[in-house]
Amino acid sequence: MTTYRITLLAGDGIGPEITAVARRLLEVVSSLHGFSLDFADHPFGGAAIDACGEPLPASTLEAARSADAVLLAAIGSPRYDSLPREKRPETGLLALRSELGLFANLRPVKILPALLEASTLKRSVIEGVDLLVVRELTGGVYFGTPKGRIEAEGRVRAFNTMAYFADEVDRIARVGFALAASRRGELCSVDKANVLDVSQLWRERVEAIHEEFPSVRLSHIYVDNAAMQLVRAPRQFDVLLTSNLFGDILSDEAAMLSGSIGMLPSASLGEGGPGLFEPIHGSAPDIAGQDLANPLAMVLSAAMMLRIGLQQEEAALALEAAVDRVLTGGFRTADLWSEGTTKLGCRAMGERLEAELVAHMASV
Ligand code: IPM
Ligand code: MG
Repeated sequence: MTTYRITLLAGDGIGPEITAVARRLLEVVSSLHGFSLDFADHPFGGAAIDACGEPLPASTLEAARSADAVLLAAIGSPRYDSLPREKRPETGLLALRSELGLFANLRPVKILPALLEASTLKRSVIEGVDLLVVRELTGGVYFGTPKGRIEAEGRVRAFNTMAYFADEVDRIARVGFALAASRRGELCSVDKANVLDVSQLWRERVEAIHEEFPSVRLSHIYVDNAAMQLVRAPRQFDVLLTSNLFGDILSDEAAMLSGSIGMLPSASLGEGGPGLFEPIHGSAPDIAGQDLANPLAMVLSAAMMLRIGLQQEEAALALEAAVDRVLTGGFRTADLWSEGTTKLGCRAMGERLEAELVAHMASV
């Protein structure tokens, strides 16, 4: 029987609660589909700062590197806000992405029919939305130099640099075009080329790489307009190709089409090596430890891990179908609850999903 090694990074806040749910479901779905998973927990983020004084300990990085896939829940807490930047949980996450070479971040936004009423947006706007944000993840203003803070002539100045090498744009553009070719064949590249030099290079390179993918229709959109179009007419988008910062912002916005940021999974991939799979939401310290978290983005990230990281398509589909059926059955965590639906805690949601998985498998 094939065994895959999974490095589990539960992190902070609601991380451990949603990780417990995902782990249990992965155990069940793998045994139903004839493979096994060997999980190893490692400290990361604030949890690692508490345990070893740094957000990404060498042993955690090594475990991530040598795994078949890495499943991460969430990191961060206001408790660490006053620490110097190199000691903050977020710095550990950026270092992990960078060290593993995970330059391509895939954030799919698909509106499940059961959740059409859960969004703050009208049903007529969100019905049928099926888009994918392809976010560049190891460059741009998150990593550009020079950066820092100086004090001169009595004035304090802080700065970052938004920069891309042409080859960094080329490789993320290729990922975007290839994914568009496997979907509806439309790639919309997001930039601010009317103002930023870095965006002008971005646009030139995207156009150059387009020649390798003649079947894909390419369009360009300024980021401010993209933010507007996402809530005005989101169905127009198939694949949205974005830089690191623009993708961070637009993917939170796009998440709200689905009703809750607690629904959106992601995959971060490099050239070979293990992928990192994580919900796009944060660690929600305000509800941590109260069994209130929505574990579905984590469960859907586990499904992406099965599909992309382990090539276990059937198991991925089974997990996604269980999520669909539980929502169709009217079960909701607090973030998605409305009159007429049944409210469940995080743990109970996990148990529902497990019952669905097992019942469905028995019926086929
Ligand atoms: C995300 C998060 C991270 C980011 C934070 C936690 C560093 O917001 O994955 O979208 O900005 O990339
Ligand atoms: Mg974000």
